Amino acid sequence: MPHGPGQPLHVGLDRALDVGGDELTRLTAARALDARDETLALLAIHDLHLAPIDEMGERTRWQHHPAVAALKGSLEERYIERLGVDDGNLVSPGAEETVAAVRGLAGSDQVPAVYRWVAEEAGGDELVEFLALEGGPDGGFDDMVAVCQVGIDGAPKLELARNYWDEMGRGGSAQVHTELHRRLVKAMGVRRMARSEQPLEALDRSVLGSLLATNRHLQPEMVGALGLIEMQAGHRCRKVVDGLRRIGAPDDALGFYVEHAAADPRHGKNWLDHVITPLAAEPRWANGILRGARWCVGVNRRFFDMAARRFGAGAGTRAA
Ligand SMILES: [Fe+2]
Ligand SMILES: [Fe+2]
Repeated sequence: MPHGPGQPLHVGLDRALDVGGDELTRLTAARALDARDETLALLAIHDLHLAPIDEMGERTRWQHHPAVAALKGSLEERYIERLGVDDGNLVSPGAEETVAAVRGLAGSDQVPAVYRWVAEEAGGDELVEFLALEGGPDGGFDDMVAVCQVGIDGAPKLELARNYWDEMGRGGSAQVHTELHRRLVKAMGVRRMARSEQPLEALDRSVLGSLLATNRHLQPEMVGALGLIEMQAGHRCRKVVDGLRRIGAPDDALGFYVEHAAADPRHGKNWLDHVITPLAAEPRWANGILRGARWCVGVNRRFFDMAARRFGAGAGTRAA
């Protein structure tokens, strides 16, 4: 059945990706119902580029189908509009100004109120629900770093390699960050929250990463956004460690956040010194880095505000 009026775009797209061909072409004229529908459709398209291959079946063959490419472009334009970052004052900052501006962004609201709630007040069930909403805070960061280093060289490439190697547990399979997270999920019984259950603010936060990873012209923005994540994560992870210890969580639950509380302040500093500082010598990079950092701050702030309302506190973390 082709996509019909009143039907959510992401539902029609999901079916069309199973069938391909004319079904996809018909979607060219389709319109999303609202921002949530747009974001879900965009995430489904980004999955063709980035999701675990074994979960994708045959649909990755449509990754570059003209109708999919057109839809991706228009949905991304709308998403960037919704991010609402005014580019007016991004006029060719120098490297020093860019580094100072990113440092300033990272320093603002480093520990949102919900982290204090997580550390000091959240009950066990609430804490687990918070971790579920986070949806695997480290999910995909290793792939993001890998994509981010394509086509650059010198000190930035080396730093991204060091960062990636840390993601890989420096060669120890039990210390790979995704494995540490798996142990946390198992130890605490953190449920996997389907996209259909996630609030728009959480979906928007996810889609920023996949937008940056699937658009080569946004590589500077990606450097800025990932750097900002690294610079902010350590302080927040320490609060989660405090919360997990307070509720008597088992050792298996602690490794992931203990590792990030220790490593991310170093990752953040090194990203600033060895990736952002040299790249920001070029105005195109400087502008993009700053824009990406601002995008990241924006989606996180909306996510924290939503989580604060949801838990009656103030919330949000993303380890890297
Ligand atoms: Fe990190
Ligand atoms: Fe990590």
